[in-house]
Amino acid sequence: MCGIIGCVGGEKALDVLSSGLHALEYRGYDSAGVSFFNESSEIITVKATGKIVNLDEKLGKMSESEKRSSCGIGHTRWATHGEPTERNAHPHGNERVRIVHNGIIENYRALAENLTAKGYTFTSETDTETAALTIDYCYKTNGGDAVKAISEARALFDGSYAMGIIFADRPGEIYSIRKDNPLIIGIGEGKNFIASDITAILPYTKDYIRLEENEIAILTPDLVKVIDENGNTCDKKIEKALWDVKSAQRGGYDHFMLKEIHEEPEVIEKTLAPRIGANGLPAFSDENFDIKRLAKARRIIITACGTAMHAGFMAKYFIEKYARIPVNVEIASEMRYADMIIDENDAVIVISQSGETADTLAALRLAKEKGAFVTSIVNVVGSTIARESNATIYTWAGPEIAVASTKAYVVQSALMVLLSLGLALERNTMDEQKVRVLTEKLRYALPKDVSKILAMQDEIFDAVGYLSDKTDMFCLGRGIDYYAMIEASLKIKEVSYIHSEAYAAGELKHGTISLIEKGTPVIVLSTDESVRQKMVGNIREVMSRGAYVISITTPDAQIDAVSERVINLPSESGEFLPIAAATVLQLMAYRAAIIKGCDVDCPRNLAKSVTVE
Ligand code: M6R
Repeated sequence: MCGIIGCVGGEKALDVLSSGLHALEYRGYDSAGVSFFNESSEIITVKATGKIVNLDEKLGKMSESEKRSSCGIGHTRWATHGEPTERNAHPHGNERVRIVHNGIIENYRALAENLTAKGYTFTSETDTETAALTIDYCYKTNGGDAVKAISEARALFDGSYAMGIIFADRPGEIYSIRKDNPLIIGIGEGKNFIASDITAILPYTKDYIRLEENEIAILTPDLVKVIDENGNTCDKKIEKALWDVKSAQRGGYDHFMLKEIHEEPEVIEKTLAPRIGANGLPAFSDENFDIKRLAKARRIIITACGTAMHAGFMAKYFIEKYARIPVNVEIASEMRYADMIIDENDAVIVISQSGETADTLAALRLAKEKGAFVTSIVNVVGSTIARESNATIYTWAGPEIAVASTKAYVVQSALMVLLSLGLALERNTMDEQKVRVLTEKLRYALPKDVSKILAMQDEIFDAVGYLSDKTDMFCLGRGIDYYAMIEASLKIKEVSYIHSEAYAAGELKHGTISLIEKGTPVIVLSTDESVRQKMVGNIREVMSRGAYVISITTPDAQIDAVSERVINLPSESGEFLPIAAATVLQLMAYRAAIIKGCDVDCPRNLAKSVTVE
């Protein structure tokens, strides 16, 4: 989704904007732009469609003195209102005001009508332009009082927003507001920043403050002042980013996706270790999280979107198996409109890498409204979902930059297994020694198996060659392997653009098998030996109709006999192997994308953090 960067101070604000925009690329965008004050204190605006290099190229044509600036705002736009054209790219405004905006102003048509009646004209199709011109109007009618103008305009906006604002007659000042969209203020030395995402300012500072809803921030090179909705100056706490610049760089890998897959063994350990006691049992001491409360739930509802929801399926499997609590997994965007029966006897778990997904946040708010206790599993410290939940357990995966979620999914799944073991202990559904043995296996054998799989990368890549000219395929599994394949299928689709369907292997013959023809690729996951015979039967069904079967399995002669290609899995992690198998499937998706020449880290039309409905 859209990204915001702003810098005030120093002489090279434009360099900060450019590096910040590159750091924000991972969020997904289709145009970019900057507005900055030049040496004569005039606002210069430059925009370009497509990649940020196109914007760099335009800026590169300007002389050093033309580019010298100590204040500016920049934006990457992921189109919602209006096509991804230069005209619709941010910043928007007129000769008096320029803004960058993340989110959606829902009532923009009504605002536009009002403005038109007052003589304003529009040059874009965006909701953001109406916000900019509304601020301009309020600025004029408030005699050039910026805070009053922003506060008055804000009261007219319906929707969500994070904004960076500059006024032509206030060079050296940036203003900012937010509602339901993240924005932080970076505190530097002689320089201050605004950013939608900490990764954009990490090269300059690790100190930041969070802007709360309805607060207005005023930034100059040496001062950051935050004013609350009653006009009082707020005393803000300065926080320190836990991530460093290196963790948000490719570090020698060709792509972030590959780097992040290779980080999996390390981040599993980082996430699990602090939650395992010296006695080898799960011991959650996360802030506000009380496992006893969760253990008492009559039912657990897990809600999330995309890959995070698929980690929810893993959670369902293990919580039901170990702790015997019924679990429903709900798509967050559906749950918010479904009039669901939820009350204080239910526990809700929301899962989110970014902690900012609009649909997940809305589902969380709804669950709280209905009286449920909400625990979130989140990767970004202090994100909105983390702050609004009753309790939060962080995954320590570090920054995930590739749009396709990989390491976050693996740690979410591993953490949910640990949680289910903790719940089993609380509810006495499993004896302590069994919990200890499984906890040890999860902590040590799972990352070991993932490391072994990473060492098989060449073999895995080789098996993907067959997919290079294919447009459709299937991913089959049974039970937990089916859950793993739902995620695998999403990964293949989003990065390689091969249409893929995940199917419970036994369900295929109830209709979908009609799509299998000579050469159709079918990837099979079979880690659960209790249904091995059934799986072999299902492979025969598709093979006899011409499918090209690639099996990912624990070694088995029968599977060998019915598959074109077999990838044998290590098996130390036992029942947690479907989580390790995700690594194989992620590597396959990555390789398929590379072979097909796709932009693997920023797949078309996708955004990393989906902050609009
Ligand atoms: O940040 P979140 O985990 O809340 O994001 C949820 C989904 O948007 C996300 O998992 C999406 O499906 C990824 N692109 C999948 O790789």
